[in-house]
Amino acid sequence: MAMDTTAEIETDLDIIKLMSMGPMAPVANPHPIYAALRDEHPVFNTTNFAGAMEESGHQSFIITRYDDVKYVLRNDKIFSNEINQRTIGVVMGPTVIGMDGSEHLKHRTLITPSVTPRALKGDNFEAVVEKKAHDTIDAFIASGVADLHQDFCFKFPLAVFVSLLGLPSDDLDQVHRWGIDLTLIASDPEKGLAASEHLLNFLTPIVQKKRENPGSDMISVLVTAQINGEKMSDYEVVSFLRLLVLAGAETTNHLLGTACYALLHDADLMQRVRDDRSLVSALFHEAMRWEAPIGTIMRNALEDTEISGVAVPKGSTILCHIGAANRDERQFKNPDAFDIDRQDNEHIGFGYGRHYCAGSHLAKLEAEVAINAILDRLQDLKPDPDRVSRMIGFSFRGPESIPVTFKPA
Ligand code: HEM
Repeated sequence: MAMDTTAEIETDLDIIKLMSMGPMAPVANPHPIYAALRDEHPVFNTTNFAGAMEESGHQSFIITRYDDVKYVLRNDKIFSNEINQRTIGVVMGPTVIGMDGSEHLKHRTLITPSVTPRALKGDNFEAVVEKKAHDTIDAFIASGVADLHQDFCFKFPLAVFVSLLGLPSDDLDQVHRWGIDLTLIASDPEKGLAASEHLLNFLTPIVQKKRENPGSDMISVLVTAQINGEKMSDYEVVSFLRLLVLAGAETTNHLLGTACYALLHDADLMQRVRDDRSLVSALFHEAMRWEAPIGTIMRNALEDTEISGVAVPKGSTILCHIGAANRDERQFKNPDAFDIDRQDNEHIGFGYGRHYCAGSHLAKLEAEVAINAILDRLQDLKPDPDRVSRMIGFSFRGPESIPVTFKPA
């Protein structure tokens, strides 16, 4: 597997072009652009570019420095999540990701038990995840070659999710396709809205059934959760599930892909982690930092304010670039290096503040189980020398393919 070869084509890319190319822009290395922004325009006015749903004349800023991103995410009374409701909320419906203040707190309390591994399946949970990882590997192991992106990283997190929901695995591919289409809302609204509608029609009767006859699966936990006697409506539960479909389709898969990509490009690292599995946790966190699977998150300013001395008018959109902040040389030594020995790796790949990823424990558990299963089952795992693998994406980021050869263990 060769490293990416597209650097020359990308030299004339600027940030506006990059953003306009969509969430999975086929750009192998946007980091020089981010570094220039951090140095020269850390609070960059990208007015009129905030996605198809923004009105013209609207002010938009992209922030790329670690401290600035943390500042915005911490100050949730000034920088609101409501913009998410107007954008991605169009396909999901009302979810925590678009809520502020006490409304957010209430809903976050209601959904938290449904994404906490132990609360879901008790001590048995890890075994369920392990089985899904091995089943996924079983499907390709005999051939000795694979594209780990397509054959594993894409399939495994969704297989776990479908099992958590208590759905038959036949539904996996369809749910996955709808999940991917949801992300297209800005570039292809028709497709995004159609996927949203399909998921609503698919999930509503399932939610209704679980309300009548709850079990121990994720949907049952959601329909029975209550705070001060209040429960989520069927529509709110479906909306949250649509958010999780997206989380399953577009996050953990990229993270797993990046971790595999890093191992495959450094034979010494691969051997170290093979020999000492206590390093899998550091590998996970360094992959989260090095190529944040969710590169950007949005906020809107509720009042006239400023960020690092730059005036930000009320109503402005702020694109917080987690991926750029995670490579900020003001925070991380030698930030472009993939270094699992890094001390104090306080990456913000899971966000920061009150909207910090509610599924981070689940994501970490899945990733650690997956990496261990790959290392246990695929011996002599190497990049396929005849095929190229490269990282792609702007808002979501990970390898587009991971061609490998191996010997089944
Ligand atoms: C490697 C995988 C994942 C990454 C990189 C990731 C990243 C993030 C980030 C950056 C946020 C903050 C969004 C914001 O502040 O606007 C977030 C929020 C969230 N994530 Fe994840 N996530 C991952 C996996 C998951 C999984 C597996 C689940 C659930 C099963 C999940 C559920 C959520 C939820 C519910 C929120 C909203 C929390 C809130 O608004 O209070 N995530 N995630």
